[in-house]
Amino acid sequence: MRIEPSGKALGAKIEGIDLADPVSDADFKHMLRALGEHGVLCFPGQRVTTDDFVRFGRMFGELEINVANQFHEPGLPEVMVLSNMTADGKPIGLGDAGQGWHTDMSYSKDIALANVLYAVKVPARDGRPLGDTQFRNMHAAYEDLPAEIKARLEGRTATHDFAKFWDMMRARPGSRRAPLTREQRARKPPVSQPIFRIHPITGRRVLYCNPGYAMRIDGMPEAESAELLDFLFRHQEQPKCFHAHQWAEGDVLMWDNVGTVHNAVADYRADEPRYMRRLQVMATKDYARLAA
Ligand code: SIN
Repeated sequence: MRIEPSGKALGAKIEGIDLADPVSDADFKHMLRALGEHGVLCFPGQRVTTDDFVRFGRMFGELEINVANQFHEPGLPEVMVLSNMTADGKPIGLGDAGQGWHTDMSYSKDIALANVLYAVKVPARDGRPLGDTQFRNMHAAYEDLPAEIKARLEGRTATHDFAKFWDMMRARPGSRRAPLTREQRARKPPVSQPIFRIHPITGRRVLYCNPGYAMRIDGMPEAESAELLDFLFRHQEQPKCFHAHQWAEGDVLMWDNVGTVHNAVADYRADEPRYMRRLQVMATKDYARLAA
């Protein structure tokens, strides 16, 4: 297995490994370390069945079944389908997943370690792939915060709400998202998360506060909270934190959901098919020990 870092804000390519085969303990440890160090790992040219894909994801932690997930592979609710494709005029996947900067599962008491996507169909126009996934490095964002902001926010929490992103997507013209039901809302009530947290693999601090879900800083006057959140969200936008993944069919892409925020670029049309299988790996293991 060869790990080739991009040398940029995030990203490494991992070659010389077939994810259709079981992964050795030594390779698993290298992948986990690489996930902490590079944040976004691409395994290009893979041909994996849904069973292989699930086995790969499960090595890293339990797989989530999303509270609002209507689209998944048959019999496998943990393998979500993200797609703009239709069958008999009906959508076969969540078509607008992740189109806005966010961190998956920050709205949940139990947070996620990583997302894993398998690119089955990638839209392209004039020979250029479309539908990039973009990232920002939250280790770098934390390190680069002014000391005064670090001091003001030390030990603080922010409230994150699943409904914030959902309702923002629903408000977009043409959205097919139904309103969240009372039951879905009850299963994902707003939660407080530390604004700075220790990354479970690297042991370093990250900024854990994303525009998709963070609503307010707890215990702070509304205006001050809004001003600070605005500052944190703008701070993340610095080019030195940015990375974009341009997809190719067969890519398995794994990204760190504690140390990055991400955004799915919606630059393709309804007649330009995109189909991704997605796993959400929950942070259910002792990663510091496993990576040591
Ligand atoms: C997501 O936010 O999980 C989806 C990312 C993508 O489809 O590019």
